[in-house]
Amino acid sequence: MKNIPTPTRVLHVVAAAAALLGTSLAAHAGGEVEVLHYWTSGGEARAAASLKATLQAKGDTWKDFAVAGGGGDSAMTVLKSRVLSGNPPAAAQIKGPSIQEWASEGVLANLDDVAKANNWDALLPKVVSDVMKYKGSYVAVPVNVHRVNWLWANPQALQKAGAKMPTTWDEFFVTAEALKKAGIIPVAHGGQPWQDFTTFEAVALGVGGPEFYKKALVHLEPASLKSPTMLKILTTFKHVKDFTDKNAPGRDWNLATAMVIKGEAGMQIMGDWAKGEIVAAGKVPGKDVLCAAAPGTANSFTFNVDSFAMFKLKNKANEQAQKDMATAIMAPEFQETFNLAKGSIPVRLNMDMSKFDACAKLSAHDFVSTAKTNSLVPSIAHGMAVSSAAQGAIQDVVSQYWNTDNMTAQQAMDRLADAAKTK
Ligand code: GAL
Repeated sequence: MKNIPTPTRVLHVVAAAAALLGTSLAAHAGGEVEVLHYWTSGGEARAAASLKATLQAKGDTWKDFAVAGGGGDSAMTVLKSRVLSGNPPAAAQIKGPSIQEWASEGVLANLDDVAKANNWDALLPKVVSDVMKYKGSYVAVPVNVHRVNWLWANPQALQKAGAKMPTTWDEFFVTAEALKKAGIIPVAHGGQPWQDFTTFEAVALGVGGPEFYKKALVHLEPASLKSPTMLKILTTFKHVKDFTDKNAPGRDWNLATAMVIKGEAGMQIMGDWAKGEIVAAGKVPGKDVLCAAAPGTANSFTFNVDSFAMFKLKNKANEQAQKDMATAIMAPEFQETFNLAKGSIPVRLNMDMSKFDACAKLSAHDFVSTAKTNSLVPSIAHGMAVSSAAQGAIQDVVSQYWNTDNMTAQQAMDRLADAAKTK
């Protein structure tokens, strides 16, 4: 019976052939999308490659516009000059309030038709879709949710030092001392302003708690920016530096992650893109490299949503290719493949998390639970909380304080409060 082509079986074959044909026909004339991004480390590059492959499967061409530099500061400078010269890329990795800033310049394309056809309003958490819209219309498409408040640690290093994974800042310094005594660099740090700021933000959340964090670093309230709590945060933050090595200045974040993977260093404070490096190195996150919420932040979540904004174009085929890219980004298959490589979790709600590691599962759980307790907060260091001008000014002060031996916490606090006024 098996080999007799029943009508149903024939229909199945015809359907399958049509689907195949459809795929190749879907390879329509094809447009080109020039994509500005800063995903150049091992894990990031794997994630970017999955986006490129997805776009190419639709018959479009990916023109790579990668600007190296973690956190994207250099990429944003290059983007500004390209837009100012009237030659924007088709898509750019832009996040948070910057999306609104670019939209208000009138240079972003409207993605409402794609969003409607694919039901984005229902598929995205509101905290995310609000950021993707300008005056009620979608102008960007989100890729993922990164959690920033993580601590990574090498289990063998901890064991050698007889130390445990810290859950408070007091415990963090006990573990750091023990690692130092065991001859291991306690904290792998990359001394670049955005990495200094990432550490600062973790300390602020852990020492101040989510309510304080929101008052000081989201609403920029002067009374919180100048307060005993802020003084304590600044002092704690600077003490972390005592446990970094002399080669930290200028080091890229992924090299710091590699130090933890190899056990040359014990711990790193970094967002979960570090997990992309761990996976790319063939290690298992949560086992070969441990993950825990940064000290004192187990019940909070600092979110960082990567997204692509599309710039207005004149070429119709390229416009269609932009839409193809936006559609592909929100598809469940892409959300899974990309985020497994990137270290983040899918931004699309109700995704199957079975292929994800323990750290991602914890992140997905905490993303939902912290939203309910008002302890889901936007990352200031990663462009989610305040205007790009205020962010840059505050980051400068934080980094100068970290790097200047004779600047007191009081002086830093005064300058921080001034920087927060930057418009
Ligand atoms: C973040 C970005 C991540 C990650 C990291 C390091 O700001 O959201 O995708 O790549 O910088 O480059």
